[in-house]
Amino acid sequence: MMVQYAKPRGTADILPDQVADWRAIEDEARRLFAIYHYREIRTPIFEHTEVFLRGVGDTTDIVQKEMYTFMDRGDRSLTLRPEGTAGVVRAYVEEKLYGVANTQKFYYFGPMFRYEKPQAGRYRQFHQYGIEVIGSSDPRVDAEVIGLGDHFLRQLGIDTFTLHLNSVGCPVCRASHKAHLIEHLQPIRNELCKDCQSRFEKNPLRILDCKIDHDHPVVMSAPTITDALCDDCAHQFATVQTYLDEMGITYEIDKTMVRGLDYYTQTAFEFKEGSIGAISTILAGGRYNGLIHELGGPELPGIGFAGGVERLLLARAARQETVQAKDQVDVVVVAMGDSAMNASVRVLHELRKAHITADVDYYGRGVKGQLKLADRLSARYVVLIGDDEVSTQSVSVRDLSTREQVLVEQHRVVNYLLERVTNGQSEI
Ligand code: HAM
Repeated sequence: MMVQYAKPRGTADILPDQVADWRAIEDEARRLFAIYHYREIRTPIFEHTEVFLRGVGDTTDIVQKEMYTFMDRGDRSLTLRPEGTAGVVRAYVEEKLYGVANTQKFYYFGPMFRYEKPQAGRYRQFHQYGIEVIGSSDPRVDAEVIGLGDHFLRQLGIDTFTLHLNSVGCPVCRASHKAHLIEHLQPIRNELCKDCQSRFEKNPLRILDCKIDHDHPVVMSAPTITDALCDDCAHQFATVQTYLDEMGITYEIDKTMVRGLDYYTQTAFEFKEGSIGAISTILAGGRYNGLIHELGGPELPGIGFAGGVERLLLARAARQETVQAKDQVDVVVVAMGDSAMNASVRVLHELRKAHITADVDYYGRGVKGQLKLADRLSARYVVLIGDDEVSTQSVSVRDLSTREQVLVEQHRVVNYLLERVTNGQSEI
């Protein structure tokens, strides 16, 4: 009998046909993150288990139930990373990157591992893209990070999400709030789910967004940390909102959102998208001002986000009809007759060197066929080169939206089009 092997539950093969979709997301992320001046960092896929115990927090579901932890042959406890932030912070501290510049901005991609119950949008090996800014508590950074998340999703054609925003305070305001919360929840302590009972004293805040207990009337009427912020945290939260308003970013204050990782302080946010079913958070993050110190570094603040590539793909698939086809160029060069070949090759190359997206027909079609290509690629301009243009060292530039055509000298055509097309960079 032949043995047939199946992939482990909760994992997926990404076949060649699907790779283009994945790369589109990765490419867009790289392009946009670079524009906001984030630089890529690559950290190991496994870390010492301790990094996640201390980083993510030992009362979280991730640490208690979901980690892929194993002993290696040297009897060290290692864990496949369940998320990216702890590893990035570990690297930042270990490599003493705080000595290089005050504020460092990173982005990363890669597989993450959580032993969760697999279903649509939830896997055991999944892929995150994420950013981290370490070294500044300026609320402008919070606004930048959230703004980048918003921009990134829209750039991918996802624009029906809602942005949930909250502040989960700092150790100062949390301490007094925790006491109030415990007092409020005490009468129903025995009615809560097992997890909530066990985190009752250590992390009662999590009870507010527990999947099982969140709609218990007593839980619903519990005092929120948002209403109990200390002056510093309240000011930070208000300023972040002001900046988001300035940037035209809409959000909903969600006072019960606390996030599933222990490192969060102050700003916390989640982008939720209804079209992908029950598991709807496509991008999420927040501030983690204690984490750098917790992992052995100096007292420096941090903030970031991560999102799941698989969930982005689901959201994109749900909107297939409305997502703009990306097979598009700004300019198609149309060569008419043999004498135009040399000039068309040169002009096309020069346009691309100026970062104007441009293409040409390589099938030897006639002018009509070449113009069809311009149509299919939704080109905004065609550059026509025929005998007349060759003899006068010019090109004809046709604006396909107005049908106007002008003669432009060959050495001026790059500048002429640069002034008119929004090239790849500025289109964002
Ligand atoms: P998280 O909320 O645990 O945060 O995960 C971020 C995103 O990863 C989720 O919103 C979701 O899109 C995706 N994700 C999480 N678990 C799964 C899964 N099992 N299957 C598929 N997708 C999943 C973090 O990981 C933090 N490190 C984010 C962060 C960065 N905070 C500050 N900096």
